[in-house]
Amino acid sequence: MGNILVTGANGQLGSEIRVATSDKDNYIFTDVEELDITNLEKVRNFVVQNRVGAIVNCAAYTNVDKAEEDAITADLINHQAVRNLAVVCKEFGATLIHISTDYVFDGTKNTPYVEEDVTSPQGVYGKSKLEGERAILNSGCEYLIVRTSWLYSSFGTNFAKTMRRLTAEKDTLNVVFDQVGTPTYAADLANILVSIIEKNQYKGNAGIYHFSNEGVCSWYDFAIEIRNLSGNACDIKPCHSNEFPSKVKRPNYSVLDKTKIKKTFGVEISHWKEALERSLYLYGK
Ligand SMILES: NC(=O)c1ccc[n+]([C@@H]2O[C@H](COP(=O)([O-])OP(=O)(O)OC[C@H]3O[C@@H](n4cnc5c(N)ncnc54)[C@H](OP(=O)(O)O)[C@@H]3O)[C@@H](O)[C@H]2O)c1
Repeated sequence: MGNILVTGANGQLGSEIRVATSDKDNYIFTDVEELDITNLEKVRNFVVQNRVGAIVNCAAYTNVDKAEEDAITADLINHQAVRNLAVVCKEFGATLIHISTDYVFDGTKNTPYVEEDVTSPQGVYGKSKLEGERAILNSGCEYLIVRTSWLYSSFGTNFAKTMRRLTAEKDTLNVVFDQVGTPTYAADLANILVSIIEKNQYKGNAGIYHFSNEGVCSWYDFAIEIRNLSGNACDIKPCHSNEFPSKVKRPNYSVLDKTKIKKTFGVEISHWKEALERSLYLYGK
């Protein structure tokens, strides 16, 4: 199968893949210092020199708000660099396993998004991620694109960690209840990606797939559960998203339908509450 290159490996998902593959020696982890994926020649040389058979691209520009003022960098990392990876995979017969986002949708549906639903990103981040997807499709390389949502982990900065801290520090907190989706524990996504790779299931199953944990909640529900599981006493009040003015229009509804990934790869997915409890246990309750 060749070696597996994980790019953006110091981020939330990359770090969880490192944990999930700690007993394996054919995974190579790089972040921007070791391999800047915006540099096509460096990507090409790295893939050749390290006999890379598949790339798991966890590298991304993920700051949704900042992207509105830095569209050039967002496009460079989320689109042009992804094209670099796809071009090199095509050249050397490697597979690109790429992570995308629920932000490719506008959030106006009220039933879970399937892979074939019309994309209509509302901001710079979502647009740059969609262009990245298109670059892969246009390259002709073997690929899997896995769209996920509301990612959290014990690594990096995320809503779960922030709420855990704030509900310990504050007496009251307002959290939006008019945006609905499903959290994704990055360790669960990492384990499923590794399982797909280890079983060679990425061969012959090219396509776009949706993955999050099971169930549905608002950010308010998510915060309540984080507070309860953390044993904190903060009074959390539901509020509307327009109380937090933002340059980016976030999808009101971004639940992803996981039927395709479950059927194709035979995977089981935990409910978001169960995954959250596992993750908080690992953080050290
Ligand atoms: N976070 C979410 O809620 C969420 C939701 C849906 C989908 N996703 C997608 O899931 C994937 C993983 O997200 P994540 O939260 O794990 O991301 P993350 O924690 O922000 O990690 C991304 C990593 O990529 C690195 N990177 C940036 N530019 C690079 C470059 N030119 N070359 C190599 N590495 C570079 C970043 O380094 P620096 O930190 O130094 O920039 C960082 O270590 C992304 O594709 C993201 O779009 C995330």
